[in-house]
Amino acid sequence: MKPTELKPEIYWVGAIDWAVRDFHGYVTPNGTTYNNYLILDDQITLLDTVKHEFSGVTIRNIKRLTDPSKIKNIVINHIENDHVASIGDIMNLAPDATIYISEHGKKGLDRFFDTTRWNIRIVRTGDTISIGKRTLLFLETPMLHWPDSMMTYIKEDKLLISQDAFGQHYASAARFDDEFISCFSAAELEDAVKDYYANILMPFGTLIKNKIADIQKLGLEIDMIAPDHGVIWRKDPFKIINMYLDMATGKADLRVAIIYDTMWHSTEQMSVPIMQGIKDQGVDVKVVKLRANPISLAVKEFWKARGCLVGSPTLNNSMFPTIAEFLTYLKGLRPKGRLVGAFGSYGWMGGAVKDVYEEFRKMGLEMVEQGVQVIYKPSPEDEQNCYDFGREFASRVKEYHKYFE
Ligand code: FEO
Repeated sequence: MKPTELKPEIYWVGAIDWAVRDFHGYVTPNGTTYNNYLILDDQITLLDTVKHEFSGVTIRNIKRLTDPSKIKNIVINHIENDHVASIGDIMNLAPDATIYISEHGKKGLDRFFDTTRWNIRIVRTGDTISIGKRTLLFLETPMLHWPDSMMTYIKEDKLLISQDAFGQHYASAARFDDEFISCFSAAELEDAVKDYYANILMPFGTLIKNKIADIQKLGLEIDMIAPDHGVIWRKDPFKIINMYLDMATGKADLRVAIIYDTMWHSTEQMSVPIMQGIKDQGVDVKVVKLRANPISLAVKEFWKARGCLVGSPTLNNSMFPTIAEFLTYLKGLRPKGRLVGAFGSYGWMGGAVKDVYEEFRKMGLEMVEQGVQVIYKPSPEDEQNCYDFGREFASRVKEYHKYFE
């Protein structure tokens, strides 16, 4: 893909990764992009690099616009491998460039690379550099989502280079939000944003709200937001800001996600009348079988719904391993504002439902107890109990949802 001009003399010089499906364990069925940007001002400036296997791609893109040895400044907004791993190759071509990076970023860079010969300047929130016609303003965003993370604002172009924030894991030929929507749909783009937020940014809602408030206090006018993954928000940058504010304040749909696994179909059979009970209370339901779907998809569905029921068979007096894996991943994301419950089957001794509630308790989520359990295989009476539990749970979800309206 050729460089794409997003503002006069400011170019996307990144790479499209059509094939990646496992992004450090986060399943990416649509691939992703690694976005970095080149400004052809008096001092040629590169913002971020790309994953190392695409180093040659970004270097070719840069060479289409300039001789890389002419790069004077390199801004490193984030040191995770997918953005910084090509810096060694770039520095070999532009050894006199000055790197601008946060203090935490510098510490990490020193661990990943031999930086002894590189010119490095540590920057903090509010620091600026003039590169000719343009001024770059740096904004530290620690823990969004690494300690080193920062953003760069280009004042004259009202352009925010937002690094991971506001991104999406989606490989496409579209570089901009309006192009994506005309090729696919606004709903598909929103779904990609939610998937990314749920799996990466869910723990940081309060930080996100505070950082957006900081940007507003600084009075920065924003005309375009260019993240390091997915499309650039040129048509409607406030759409993504408002989506982030909604997600950071716990917005969810009035829906229940049923996330389950099963050994001999008993737990699966329970999920059917539970689903029907929820539906008959007028609440939407999404059912996800864990062994048929990646955990990252289950987390997205958990995040989109106000309520979640987890169904697990009992294996060796414990919850099923895929359920344990899902709950471990979910716990790390520190979910809030979701009502939860559990159901499951067992043979001679229970254990799974108790284990699931114990995990939810550790997460501090509000629960509907005691859930529902079935020995061996659901009888017609058990199926009625499951249906009643579904209705009761949906009714509680409707009440709980009102707190967030
Ligand atoms: Fe896209 Fe935190 O790296």
